[in-house]
Amino acid sequence: MRVPSRLFLVAILVFTPFADAAERRPREAAVASAHPAATAAGREIIEAGGNAFDAAVAVAAALAVVEPYSSGLGGGGFFLLHRARERKDVVLDARERAPAAARRDMYLDAQGRPVPRASLDGPLAAGIPGVPAALEHLARRYGSLPLERTLAPAIALATDGFAVTPRYRRMAEQRQDALRSHPAAGDIFVPGGFVPEPGERIVQADLARTLKAMARDGARGFYGGEVGRRLVAGVRAGGGIWRAKDLEDYRVIEREPLEARYRGQRVVTAPPPSAGGVALLQVLGVLEGFELEGLDDATRAHILVEAMRRAFRDRAHHLGDPDFLEAGVTQGLLAPAYIGRMRAGIDRRRVTPSERLGSIPVPGAGTHTTHLSVIDTQGNRVAATLSINTPFGSAFVPPGTGVLLNNEMDDFATAPGLPNTYGLVGSEANGIAPGKRPLSSMTPTFVETRDTVAVLGTPGGSRIVSMVLLATLDVLHGRGGPADWVARPRFHHQYLPDVIEHEPGAFEPDTRSALARFGHRLRAVEGGYGNMQIVAWDRRTGRAMAAADPRGEGAVWAGAVRSGESGRRSR
Ligand code: DON
Repeated sequence: MRVPSRLFLVAILVFTPFADAAERRPREAAVASAHPAATAAGREIIEAGGNAFDAAVAVAAALAVVEPYSSGLGGGGFFLLHRARERKDVVLDARERAPAAARRDMYLDAQGRPVPRASLDGPLAAGIPGVPAALEHLARRYGSLPLERTLAPAIALATDGFAVTPRYRRMAEQRQDALRSHPAAGDIFVPGGFVPEPGERIVQADLARTLKAMARDGARGFYGGEVGRRLVAGVRAGGGIWRAKDLEDYRVIEREPLEARYRGQRVVTAPPPSAGGVALLQVLGVLEGFELEGLDDATRAHILVEAMRRAFRDRAHHLGDPDFLEAGVTQGLLAPAYIGRMRAGIDRRRVTPSERLGSIPVPGAGTHTTHLSVIDTQGNRVAATLSINTPFGSAFVPPGTGVLLNNEMDDFATAPGLPNTYGLVGSEANGIAPGKRPLSSMTPTFVETRDTVAVLGTPGGSRIVSMVLLATLDVLHGRGGPADWVARPRFHHQYLPDVIEHEPGAFEPDTRSALARFGHRLRAVEGGYGNMQIVAWDRRTGRAMAAADPRGEGAVWAGAVRSGESGRRSR
């Protein structure tokens, strides 16, 4: 969908002299992911002659093994793709679906009160996974290598085991009780009931078998056959409600990405059921009306926060799975006239308290998910944000499958006004219904300026949206390179709670005081947040650049590799 811009004409004028440069392809391929073994899997596949889509399959599958707390075959996500051949952008919606037996009140007791953690722990919390279907779809429709080849690195990692990292340990510590209460999960991830030490190896023989079934039979190897039977039997024995037909019916949906111009530069991002892209484009639309560069730091941050507040208000009131809503909601929220009204409502010197924008209840906090970015020398790109929701998802593995299931059902508005684990509130638009997909914050994005094409995204629950926004603005305004974009200190506002959350270094002391004078409440988030992965291509030189968030354990690779050539540089 195209969002018209006042500056569209300027965009054409600015772009014309650079049309040649914009035609060129990268001279190098690049991969960025949250784990060195997953980046190595992507590199291996590029060096074996695969394209960016093949590499994305290999990276996503490897992450499913070595970052089990973040994403996996038991989860879902969004893949934003650019196929150079037809200059086509498309989103693979691999979001989980509610099973057919799901009901609006399934997480409430007989008195209508929320049952604590019912949408977070155990198999009742799990939606029908989308990642296995997406891997087959990517391979079949866009890739050039068979799954047998692209899944091989993941199969080897599951069979031989991988070494526990400090991050693994932190995540397992958070979820150890839930993992222990489900033995098939506990035996794998907290063996003997103990959180493993860094360096200990985690071997996943059942997961290796499940991956091999997919290498042989594609998605059918997961949703059907022996694996499918075990998934359903395990979920039902643990108190869940999946049926074989839920698995058979799961399909990836190809959706048209959202697209807008910001001062003549192009931003392409995920549509609903991700709410991230809508918010990103709303905020950019609001900001286009301000001369951001001419403002002092406090006023600039204030205007950004006021725009975020309004975008998250709209999410809470209006957004959900588009296949269950009236048509036109997204278009309405992105219409220039509507964005003009959002902008006009912002006071440059004063907070608009969220309760005055319309009232809905309050907060929480959250952790984990993953992002990968890939480009190849044909100019193909993949930005994929993948999740099982909170660390180690539902902490439930159906016995014999090795598949850790998501707890993505918590991303629905499980009861009116009840905040989810990220403090997000929602309306009936995001209520539970059979076959429906819960709203997401995942925001894989391409930013295309005169000089640079950036492929980016991050985990971080609701904060994904503000992290992607801040990085996108850095790219659009030409501030630094990928290493700066992933490292920059972050701040966030999500309408409710009515507070600016920020990393310790985000504001100078006088900016903090000025924001307080405008009426903002500020709250520092200890230890920082996010795990952004960016690859970018410099259109002037053809060189690829890549950066992994210094807050995480990620790794990048770039090299002038066409079919089977060896890499030039790596770290
Ligand atoms: O789809 C969503 O918005 C969430 N399930 C994402 C979870 C997440 O990013 C957790 N990361 N820290």
